[in-house]
Amino acid sequence: MIQLKNRHEIDKIRESGKVLGECLLSLEEVIRSGISTWDIDRIAHEFIVKRGGYPSCLGYCGYPNATCVSVNDVVIHGIPNKKEILKDGDIVSVDICVTLDGYVSDSTRTYEVGKVSDEVHRLNVVTRECLYLGIDGARKKNARLSDIAQAVFRHAFTENGYGVVRDYTGHGVGFELHEEPEVPNYVSPLIPNPRLKPGMVLAVEPMINMGTWKIKNMKDGWTVRTADGKPACHWEHTIAVTDSGVEILTEV
Ligand code: MF3
Ligand code: CO
Repeated sequence: MIQLKNRHEIDKIRESGKVLGECLLSLEEVIRSGISTWDIDRIAHEFIVKRGGYPSCLGYCGYPNATCVSVNDVVIHGIPNKKEILKDGDIVSVDICVTLDGYVSDSTRTYEVGKVSDEVHRLNVVTRECLYLGIDGARKKNARLSDIAQAVFRHAFTENGYGVVRDYTGHGVGFELHEEPEVPNYVSPLIPNPRLKPGMVLAVEPMINMGTWKIKNMKDGWTVRTADGKPACHWEHTIAVTDSGVEILTEV
C-alpha cells in the first residue's frame, strides 16, 4: 500500500530534508584527497545529530554506520572504513537518510575528489542530469511512476550508453525509510505502475554505471560493486507530489 502524506506531514519531511540537504552540501568542503570514508561518515553523523536528527541508516537492518560511502566501482552501500583514504581522481557517493521528529528523508550525491578524468566527470554529470530528468518525468501531466524511469533510462542508456542498475530501485519514503512503491530506473511491464498523485513522497535515485548494468554483492552483506569494475554514480532526492506540482524536499 502506498501511504499518502498530508500537507502537515510533507512539511515535516521537508524539515528533515533540509537538514539532509545542508549536510550533503557541507560535505563539499570536507571531501578532499586524504580524508577517509570513516571521517566523512563521522562528520555527517555529527552534523545530523547537532541539528536534532537521527541518521536512519544506522542500525537499519543491522547496517553499522550513519551513512553509506561508496567509492569508484562501489555502486551503493559502501561501509565507511578508517583505512579507506580518498585520493585525487576518485569519486565518492554519500547516501544519507535523516529522521527528524519521526519523518524520514533520503538523498545522495556523488562527489569528485580533486580532478577526475573527463570520462568519469561525464558519468557524474549525466547521472545528476538523470535525477533531474526523472523528477521532471514525474511533473508530466497524468504522470505514472514509469515516467520517472523512462526519462532516466533514456538519458543514461539510450543517449549515453551507460548501464542502468536494475537490482536496486528508489522507493516511497517519509514515515519509514523504505515504503511502497518501488521506483525503478528502467521500465518493465512487470512492475506496478500507478499514476502519481498528490501525497506521494518518493526517493528518486538513479544508480548509473559506466559499463554494464550488472552488479555484484560483496561478502560483507552490504557493499554493492559494478560487476565489470568500472565506476558508478548515484544521485538521489526525496520528492513530494502535491496539488501544485512536484517539490524536491532535499534540495537546499
Ligand atoms: N539510502 C539507502 C536506500 O535508499 C538506504 C540504505 S539503507 C542502509 O536504499 F542500511 F544501507 F543504510
Ligand atoms: Co533511497
